[in-house]
Amino acid sequence: MASSTTLFPFLSIVALALLATAYAHHGFSVELIHHDHPRSPSYNPTLSPSDRIQAEIQRSNARAASLRAYFSYFHEYHDGYPSTYPPPSGSQSPCHPPNSPHGTTIQADLFASTDNNYYMSIRLGTPVKEIIAVPDTGSYLIWVGCEPCPKCYKKDPLFNPATSSSYTNLPCDSKPCSQLTPQRFCVNSTCTYYESYGQGIPYVIGDLAQETFTFKTTSGSFVRLPGLVFGCTHITNGTSQRNTAGIVGLGGHPLSLVSQLGSSIEHRFSYCLVPSSLTKVMTSHLNFGSDAVVSGAQTISMIDNGRQSFYAVTLDGITVGNNSLGPINSTMMIVDCGSTLTSLHGTVLERLVDALKKTISLPQVEDGQLPLCFNESTRSDYGYPDIILQLGTATITLKPYNAFLMINNHVRCLAMKPNDNFSILGNIAQQNFHIGFDLASWKISFAAADCTKN
Ligand SMILES: *[C@@H]1O[C@H](CO)[C@@H](O)[C@H](O)[C@H]1NC(C)=O
Ligand SMILES: *[C@@H]1O[C@H](CO)[C@@H](O)[C@H](O)[C@H]1NC(C)=O
Ligand SMILES: *[C@@H]1O[C@H](CO)[C@@H](O)[C@H](O)[C@H]1NC(C)=O
Ligand SMILES: *[C@@H]1O[C@H](CO)[C@@H](O)[C@H](O)[C@H]1NC(C)=O
Ligand SMILES: *[C@@H]1O[C@H](CO)[C@@H](O)[C@H](O)[C@H]1NC(C)=O
Ligand SMILES: *[C@@H]1O[C@H](CO)[C@@H](O)[C@H](O)[C@H]1NC(C)=O
Repeated sequence: MASSTTLFPFLSIVALALLATAYAHHGFSVELIHHDHPRSPSYNPTLSPSDRIQAEIQRSNARAASLRAYFSYFHEYHDGYPSTYPPPSGSQSPCHPPNSPHGTTIQADLFASTDNNYYMSIRLGTPVKEIIAVPDTGSYLIWVGCEPCPKCYKKDPLFNPATSSSYTNLPCDSKPCSQLTPQRFCVNSTCTYYESYGQGIPYVIGDLAQETFTFKTTSGSFVRLPGLVFGCTHITNGTSQRNTAGIVGLGGHPLSLVSQLGSSIEHRFSYCLVPSSLTKVMTSHLNFGSDAVVSGAQTISMIDNGRQSFYAVTLDGITVGNNSLGPINSTMMIVDCGSTLTSLHGTVLERLVDALKKTISLPQVEDGQLPLCFNESTRSDYGYPDIILQLGTATITLKPYNAFLMINNHVRCLAMKPNDNFSILGNIAQQNFHIGFDLASWKISFAAADCTKN
């Protein structure tokens, strides 16, 4: 245990040195595997295209619900532990008194709601064990299911820390443990985390540890990163509905993958999502360091939310074709690759739908789920306009494929839902944009791109 504490202060230097030798240009890229790609653990070849879309809409609804839960949880949490949190059995008292000072910034995960839309491969330990995990800009902790874990998702064998020579538990007085504030307990002097949103959502409990991570890059080489802090989950009350063996937190918190790699990746990462029509045959890219520099971009500041586990900007206006919807109340818009659909405030979405009805001259059909659908069976001159989002000083042009979704043979629907609490820029809207996150300057960059040529 002692070695792990002394190792930690040198983590970023070690990571930097390794990256420097392996990557003269300080960058690397890994594959993002879509839910419906044959290499995804959720791949189901028997689903029809329209079943697949329906499942995707359900996942997106669940994700939006989880984001809303995050915010209510956040408020609830200001006065200490939510009543829905059972302390892990066998635990001693928390490392710190449970009642955190009012207003303390609370970090929480968004992981717990659904299975996700993208996966990535991580290789863990010595010798390496490959785990297909969910990269999540809405999470901070990296965690995987570890032996023993009776209720963990087990399509493949779990990671077994006992068989890895590079695994060490982190003690309660380690710096990473203090960064878990306040969702931690001491169990036999090992730092133990737990994560949940409360009501109706599963939690995970496990040991905070350090381990060597290996990433297979898109060029086929491997990046080995020793001493990354991650959670080894042993207790959960139900990840069974989610085909998730682990989460790679990409949020702003100090324990996220991006923050831990820190200066060795110039504090930046990016992704470029290939269009829906290609997600079954192509993977997208998640880039770090110099690979994450977005050329030709519009760059804006993100909302300074105290480095919570998500990235957000303000939505200040919408234009349909050449016509502005007029003034709207600015809302926080979360840039979330875990959501398929885009969400707008109900009143704004209504105005957008009205404007689109006037612009698109196809017959409308009811879908029951999505607010506006058209029957394309009789016409070919669709006339779908671009939809331009004003995000601070940036203008993001959503092409028809960023805003509309073919839900069956002849029916195309607006891929948006109402949400009055905040807006979400979903992953359909993000397709064919290279989107970069700079955690040092807390800025986000958008550039239209052909993500198939990444
Ligand atoms: C979301 O907004 C609605 C309407 O403003 C409000 O009633 C509800 O409490 C909010 N939910 C959360 C989780 O903040
Ligand atoms: C703590 O360690 C003791 C002795 O190794 C063990 O018997 C006990 O099960 C451990 N407690 C927990 C909660 O892991
Ligand atoms: C897991 O525990 C939480 C908190 O106690 C609870 O709200 C939730 O319903 C449980 N989930 C499952 C799948 O049992
Ligand atoms: C939008 O404005 C441009 C430039 O004024 C014009 O060329 C174009 O035809 C207009 N488009 C529509 C759909 O009105
Ligand atoms: C902005 O919000 C206020 C308060 O909710 C509301 O009265 C007003 O109508 C909104 N303005 C627009 C342009 O939607
Ligand atoms: C679309 O229009 C065609 C031709 O009018 C009609 O046969 C078909 O039932 C319509 N589809 C839906 C989903 O309404």
